[in-house]
Amino acid sequence: MYSNRVLSGMRPTGALHLGHYHGVLKNWVRLQHEFECLYFVADWHALTTHYDDPAQIEKHVWDMVIDWLAAGVDPAQATLFIQSRVPEHAELHLLLSMITPLGWLERVPTFKDQQEKLAEKDLATYGFLGYPLLQSADILIYRANRVPVGEDQVPHVEITREIARRFNHVFGKEPGFEEKAEAAIKKLGSRRAKAYRQQRASYLEKGDAEALAAARELLNETQNLTMGDRERLFGYIEGGGKVILTEPQALLTEASKMPGLDGQKMSKSYNNTITLREDADSVAKKVKTMPTDPARVKRTDPGNPEKCPVWQLHQVYSDDAKKAWVQQGCKSAGIGCLECKQPVIDAIIAEQQPMRERAQRYLDDPTLVRNIVADGCEKARKMAQETLRDVREVMGLGYS
Ligand code: TRP
Ligand code: SF4
Repeated sequence: MYSNRVLSGMRPTGALHLGHYHGVLKNWVRLQHEFECLYFVADWHALTTHYDDPAQIEKHVWDMVIDWLAAGVDPAQATLFIQSRVPEHAELHLLLSMITPLGWLERVPTFKDQQEKLAEKDLATYGFLGYPLLQSADILIYRANRVPVGEDQVPHVEITREIARRFNHVFGKEPGFEEKAEAAIKKLGSRRAKAYRQQRASYLEKGDAEALAAARELLNETQNLTMGDRERLFGYIEGGGKVILTEPQALLTEASKMPGLDGQKMSKSYNNTITLREDADSVAKKVKTMPTDPARVKRTDPGNPEKCPVWQLHQVYSDDAKKAWVQQGCKSAGIGCLECKQPVIDAIIAEQQPMRERAQRYLDDPTLVRNIVADGCEKARKMAQETLRDVREVMGLGYS
């Protein structure tokens, strides 16, 4: 029940850039070694805002999956899939909509923000209002408990927690729950039963979060419980009924410090990006044409790295010796700007080299990517179907 499952998704919006790599993908790669990870392409979410541009979606989906693989996401360790190929997400979304107050969705900050930001689009749609609920379904259907996301997505994880709580509250009740939970406690054995009771009381009476964690840990370590008893005992710690859907935690992804070519944050909308698999000539050209400290008009004019976007790239890519060389050379006009840019160009190209190589295999043989995703979809569906079976059951739809 309280697994260590990580889930995250990305909308397919075109080629990923080095900002995605340093912000999100390196994190995904790290997590896949520690946890069971599920990463998916949120193509339905892309449609909520780009429904008028369906021609692009397919290409964006495959390009993005290749970018993930290029960055080192390993299909042997993480499950990669496409949201729309796991239609169970849609069924859960529908079922959750029955208990979701409209106000909860209207109050999600991204709802108004995005409507204003994308004013040229008509986002007064049912689908767009439901964006966070669809995201909740994405998360809850895998009973994922860790969701790596950027700051902007935290409200979506928060509403997911509220939905899970409400769902468990409404549907987790069963006749004789207390008696069944008490009977299940006895099966823990006397030492564990005593600890469980104390921890539960401590949580219920004093809101002691450590006691809650300890009680969950205790259940996780207990082998001889049936699924039903486990769910009851997890739910019983918190009072109410069975825990059917797991409340997830956001795993905050640090904002990418990757500066763009103009010194602002790297972002597609600022048109200042280097894509993950950009070819080496294009990288060199882009960096060579970057603006520098405007005070350095002539080669002999001294400059100030603090006023130069190239310096920000040195902070990402250069060691201390190289940085000292930049500082000294710039301020004394000892080096020229092209000279200063060369190590950055070399470092970016070197960083991308393994990515280009990994991608090449998939570009040469696209069926490899199709197969990875087909396998991932199949695995994901199995997990999703399990949750959905429980959900249908408690919602009174268990007949076949
Ligand atoms: N809304 C997310 C974004 O724009 C993408 C997303 C969809 C997602 N479903 C998710 C992220 C579930 C984490 C978990 O970045
Ligand atoms: Fe920028 Fe380097 Fe030129 Fe100084 S020498 S202005 S840091 S590019």
